[in-house]
Amino acid sequence: MADKKICVLTSGGDAPGMNACVRAVVKCGEKRGLEVYGARRGYQGLIENEFIRLERSSVSNIIQKGGSIIVSSRSEYFFKEDGRKTAADNLRNMGIEGLIVIGGNGSMTGAYKMMLENGTKIVGVPGTIDRDIWGTEETIGFNTAVNTALESIDRIRDTAEAMERVFIIEVMGRHCGEIALISGIGGGADAVMIPEVKTDIDELIHDIQEGSKQGKKTNLIVVAEGDDFGGAHKVSMALKERAGIKSWVVILGYVQRGGTPTAIDRYFASVFGVAAVDTIVEGMSGVMVGWQKDEVKYIPLKDTFSNKKPFDPHDNELLELLT
Ligand code: F6P
Repeated sequence: MADKKICVLTSGGDAPGMNACVRAVVKCGEKRGLEVYGARRGYQGLIENEFIRLERSSVSNIIQKGGSIIVSSRSEYFFKEDGRKTAADNLRNMGIEGLIVIGGNGSMTGAYKMMLENGTKIVGVPGTIDRDIWGTEETIGFNTAVNTALESIDRIRDTAEAMERVFIIEVMGRHCGEIALISGIGGGADAVMIPEVKTDIDELIHDIQEGSKQGKKTNLIVVAEGDDFGGAHKVSMALKERAGIKSWVVILGYVQRGGTPTAIDRYFASVFGVAAVDTIVEGMSGVMVGWQKDEVKYIPLKDTFSNKKPFDPHDNELLELLT
């Protein structure tokens, strides 16, 4: 194994815990006798030959940091076949034999195509605050993001209660309502709107009006950005136009992506980083390391993006009982 070179990159939206994963790859890689490189700015760094040598000293004091020390990006050129070929050629010229890609659905799609077209040996690691990747119960960053959203909801609740207002809080999640559901349940929301369930705005209006008749003047409504009704501003406008209900909108946005990763995110980042290195050492390729039923699983890259993560209705049912 000695002298074998591997490379790690972070791709797509950054997620808290990505640094902890890079650290795990570097530390475990060295212990396995590998030379570890990082590609700066994700796939773009492969295309532009931006490789940096990563040693133990490069990853000291980063486990607690949000963002990505090797920088992430959404590379447009990598969407094209010749972009992926350039990337693969550059890896080959560097003598790099294995690539670890930390990212979400789009990043796994790119990894799969690159492998198929160029024979590059690739292992994926699920890194996204959305927790929307098929084949894994955990993704790096979700736990931190959901707790950040929850903290904000708690703060907004203070004002909502103090001023007797209706607040519509928009959280991230373009195609997936996981952050909205979990932070909404934890934050005691009066309603949660998610892409997976059709929004019934008239029912929401009815609930607010009925509550108001019984003296409930405060409402917290959590909306996933990808909700079919169209996000927090549209919900707020509909409440006003259809029923004269005034509401205040808060878009949490990128605060959910940054910040110190929680213990859970650091843990899964470390587990996944080590598992990814060992997968390469064992000569496997074309898989994403994931978490199912308390253990690491190896999921074919293709399955991770060609299947949609099934929606578990239990949380939604739980919410119904708690509002
Ligand atoms: O996939 C993570 C995520 O934060 C989504 O929740 C959000 O819709 C998207 O990324 C935003 O992407 P960008 O950083 O490119 O604006």
